[in-house]
Amino acid sequence: MVKKTIAIDGPAGAGKSTVARLVAKRLGYLYIDTGAMYRALTLLVMNQSIPVTNEEEITALAKKSDIKLINNNGRVFVYCNGINVTEKIRQPEVSHYVSQVASIPGVRKRLVELQRAMTGSGRVVMDGRDIATTVLPHADCKFFLTASVAERARRRYRELIEKGFKITEEEIEADIRHRDVMDSQRKVSPLVCAPDAIVIDSTNLTVTEVVDTIIGYCERMR
Ligand code: CDP
Repeated sequence: MVKKTIAIDGPAGAGKSTVARLVAKRLGYLYIDTGAMYRALTLLVMNQSIPVTNEEEITALAKKSDIKLINNNGRVFVYCNGINVTEKIRQPEVSHYVSQVASIPGVRKRLVELQRAMTGSGRVVMDGRDIATTVLPHADCKFFLTASVAERARRRYRELIEKGFKITEEEIEADIRHRDVMDSQRKVSPLVCAPDAIVIDSTNLTVTEVVDTIIGYCERMR
């Protein structure tokens, strides 16, 4: 494998993080979950009771916050100002507000800087919404992972129920639709498929099939 940077973008719940983590594991690469960083900042905004419309205060908070991803034994732990927030950032309330926080230009500027700094000399798999277009426009392999809204909602429902959250599939589908619109329509680096990205529709594929497809493409692009 001579490819060093792999970018995986796509809409909410398309399975990016599961797939990206496994691709990184198989290749021995570092996995960077950029969505987790937007989620960590959103949790901080909520904990400090800052209205999500207060762009100035949220930008200032982003600048002074220490958001870190720590890879340990194939798992990624998210730390915000030294506190482990790995579980808390997955709660539906964070999902509800994250797209608004992520639409703030100052927030994106700061988190993109942190994300680029994390890539070091390469050998990374990074997933998000703007990786192939903005964060790593020169990535060696670019993928856009998608699935039908119903399938994405079903997957996220199973995930959250397993974690003990009380939520209905309808609520999740509404949240996913809302985030798809917010993420695609924001002014700064919206969710779009990069012209040079390979599109993978995972609606009828298993996780292993998607992982194999991605690794297969990366090997062929050598
Ligand atoms: O896992 P899920 O698909 O629910 O989303 P995520 O990857 O955890 O990202 C949460 C939110 O962060 C997204 O809905 C976007 O609003 C924002 N995000 C972003 O704007 N840019 C990124 N590179 C990654 C996430």
